[in-house]
Amino acid sequence: MRILTTAAIALALSAPVLAAPPTKPARLGLCAACHGENGMARIPGAPNLAGQKLDYLREALHQYRDGRRNIPVMRAAVGPLNDAELDQLAEWFSAQTPSRAAP
Ligand code: HEC
Repeated sequence: MRILTTAAIALALSAPVLAAPPTKPARLGLCAACHGENGMARIPGAPNLAGQKLDYLREALHQYRDGRRNIPVMRAAVGPLNDAELDQLAEWFSAQTPSRAAP
């Protein structure tokens, strides 16, 4: 009995680790033309975002929105988004696996 209980607790605790990557953000379409849905850039000059550190992506998005990074295409893309939307996008791209395959 005790072993079963321990196993059940271990399973419950490990569940979040096994959880699927975040669901697609509603605003992903704003970014996909340049960065790809999977975070592998589709146009020259756009950076790959797949697998980038979550805190870095989140901070970069805030910097564009606030104008601390003054890049017109990115300011236009994130200007209308709220903090929760920026977080979802940062989590999405951070959770993607970088690939070398052509887009
Ligand atoms: C029209 C093309 C375009 C669109 C649309 C676009 N981006 Fe970008 N993005 C760029 C370019 C170009 C850069 C590089 C800007 C720079 O030099 O800082 C960039 C930079 C970034 C960076 C910083 C990466 C780094 O390594 O510092 C992040 C994060 C990012 N974009 C996320 C997004 C998200 C999220 C969206 C959708 C809301 C989006 N972008 C929409 C072109 C685009």
